[in-house]
Order: sequence, then C-alpha cells, then structure tokens
Amino acid sequence: MEGSGKIPAKYHIDEDMGFALPHPLKELPPDYSAWTAIARDLPRLIETGQLRAKVEKLPLLDIDDLQGHRSQRLGHLALGYITMAYVWDGDNGDVRKVLPRNVAVPYCKLSEKLGLPPILVYADCVLANWKKKDPNGPMTYENMDILFSFPGGDCSKGFFLISLLVEIAASPAIKVIPTIFSTVQRQDQEALQRALLEIVFCLKEALRVFQKIHEYVDPSLFFNVLRIYLSGWQGNPQLPDGLLYEGVWDTPKKFAGGSAAQSSIFQCFDVLLGVKHGSKGGFLQEMRTYMPPAHQSFLCSLESGPSLRDFVISSGNDDLKEVYNKCVEGLVSLRDYHLQIVTKYILIPARQHCRKDEKSEEQSDQENRGTGGTNLMSFLKSVRNATQEAFL
Ligand code: HEM
Repeated sequence: MEGSGKIPAKYHIDEDMGFALPHPLKELPPDYSAWTAIARDLPRLIETGQLRAKVEKLPLLDIDDLQGHRSQRLGHLALGYITMAYVWDGDNGDVRKVLPRNVAVPYCKLSEKLGLPPILVYADCVLANWKKKDPNGPMTYENMDILFSFPGGDCSKGFFLISLLVEIAASPAIKVIPTIFSTVQRQDQEALQRALLEIVFCLKEALRVFQKIHEYVDPSLFFNVLRIYLSGWQGNPQLPDGLLYEGVWDTPKKFAGGSAAQSSIFQCFDVLLGVKHGSKGGFLQEMRTYMPPAHQSFLCSLESGPSLRDFVISSGNDDLKEVYNKCVEGLVSLRDYHLQIVTKYILIPARQHCRKDEKSEEQSDQENRGTGGTNLMSFLKSVRNATQEAFL
C-alpha cells in the first residue's frame, strides 16, 4: 500500500464512503421476501404482539440463491433485525433463549459466508442500512433514510444515520494513509505535515457531525427502547448462557450487542497515531471480530506499516510534532464528546429509571452497561485517557 498511493480493493474501502457499504441493496430476491416483509414491519408487529408468531411461521430458506455481497449484506441485516426483535420483543422481561431453526440456520450460514457473527452488528445496522431519498441528491440527513427500524419512532433513524454520517465525515482520512506511510518512508517531513493536516480536518468534521445527534435522537427513547433491541447475549444476566441457535449448535452461544465500538474508523486512527489501549484494549480487539473481515485485515495491515509516531519523535521537528499532536487532540475531543453523549443518553436516563422503579443495585448496574456489555464509563474514560497519553 505504501508506494501506490491507493488502498487495495481487497480491503473493501470505498473512495467516498470509507468503511460504509456503497449503494446498499434495498430489496432481496423474491424468494426471500418473507424476511424483508417482517423486518420492514417490526415496530407494528411488536406493538400488536404478532412478531414472535410471524417469525415462528417463517419458511426455512436456503441461502444458496442469495448471490453477491450486497444481497448477502442485506440478508444479514434483515435477519439481524428479526433476531433482535424475536429475542427481546419489548422490555417486559419475556426474553427468548432459543432462536428457532427457520431463522437460526440461514442466519448462521450467511454469517459464516460473510465472516460476521450471527447477531446484529454495526456493519449491518449502520454501514449497510441506508438509502438516499433522491438518488441524485446529497448525502445529508434530510436526503437519507434507513432501510429498517426498531420501535421508538425516529430514534433508530437518528442513531444509525448520525453514526453513518460521522463515519463518512471521517473517511477522507483513510485515503491519506498511503501518503502518510510513503512520506514516513521517504522521510519527507513537509509532505507528511500536509497529510496530517488533512487528518486534523477530518476529525474536526466528524465532531461537527456528531454534535447533531441531539437534534435527532431522544434520550428517553434511546435508553428505554432502542438500547433494548441492540443488547447482546454476552455478559447479559437476562441471557446468562447466551442464545441457543436451534439446528446449528447444541449449546447456547454468547455474542456482544451492536455498538459503534465495532466501527473500524476510530480504531484506524488509534493504529495510525500509535495510541495504545493497555488492559482495556481487549474489548476493542474483540470488537474487531464483529467487523467485516476485509476491514479487520485493513487494520492489521496498518499495524505492520511504518510507525508514524516513532518517526515524528525521531525527526526532532517541532512543527511536525505540533501537527501530530493536533491529530491526537482531534481524537481526544471526539472521545470527550462521546463521554458527554453517553452521560446524556445512558447515565442520566438510567438514574431516572432507577429512582422511578426503585431498582436493585444489580439491575442498575446492568443499566450502567453498554450494548456491547462493557462497564461503560470506566471503560470509555480509560480509552479516552489512553488517547491523551499519545500526546508528544
Ligand atoms: C446515543 C449515542 C451513543 C451512545 C449512547 C453510545 C454509547 C457507547 C457505549 C456504551 C460504548 C461502550 C461499548 C459498549 O458497551 O457498547 C460505546 C463505545 C464506542 N462508541 Fe458510542 N455511543 C453513541 C454514539 C456513538 C457514535 C455516533 C459514534 C461514532 C460513530 C460512537 C463511537 C463509539 C466508539 C468508537 C466506541 C468504542 C470506544 C472508543 O473507541 O472510544 N458512538 N458507545
């Protein structure tokens, strides 16, 4: 990658969209319309208490006719929504521990083909769950929509589209990476400085877009409704053994819920800038296994690239150091902002919920967990602090 100035096609990174799937399909082949019919109607089916019966009546479909990456991604997305809805079906404590074989068998086969786990992941609900209203119009919130929704009104649209738009705002930075590597190898300090300024710009853009989340996502709907459907079955006392995928495995399996911790873009900046996450890095490393394999390979390839940080240190060039620090500052600001968001969208609603219901300590501890199952504030603060430690 270093010399060519281009990112090889095998990493599935789009020129304009970065890690997001360009032009996701909206329709599956007619044989699979039973899946999309349910996935498109989830909020109503849940509200009217029909969801589980409909899922149980689904025909057992073979995935062999689901050809092509975009069809398979849409299939994985639709089955992911159906699975989350079937397991949780509202917040009434009536949780299903067995996923029926008519969903489990095709879902696990498709997951294996794509190299993704059989649970709704960020690569489904954010990266492959979007369309433009006017195909010739811009990639703006107003001109975009999601393909499938959970209950909670426009909350899923707001959460998924803002995550996608943050991802896209940061994505021009990915294209600069080959230039960064080649300037480090050529020891061209001026060209490196220019390339790093582009990274600074992208991180600022990403923060600007992130700040729009307040306009589109309501904290109470996020906390009380959407968060339930994104929850996984790893470290979750409601499904302590995990979920049994009937007809696939004889024992239940544990998988973490959907979260932007499965986004490749932040990890990409960490690797590039040489941020080291120490003991808390395990969860982020695990989240890589929830990313499309091509994106996991891309992160691995960056790790074997030349060290930007070591080069900046050894250059003794103060201007270069300053612009490197601006990159770190951009990433710290994003993570600081993210902490504020988590306080507004999880911690404060959790406290209100706890007071209202006089919940036990164990229950409120569970609410203090992210959808990925982390003890969220201490984890997120240590990730932010590790980023700060990269300052030179
Ligand atoms: C309502 C909005 C949001 C909430 C409540 C939220 C919550 C969380 C939580 C609880 C975690 C910890 C991991 C887990 O348990 O899942 C996390 C991790 C993470 N989130 Fe968010 N998040 C939000 C929006 C976003 C957005 C829009 C992005 C950017 C696309 C983002 C990027 C990340 C990243 C990269 C991590 C991994 C930790 C890190 O690298 O700093 N989050 N988030």
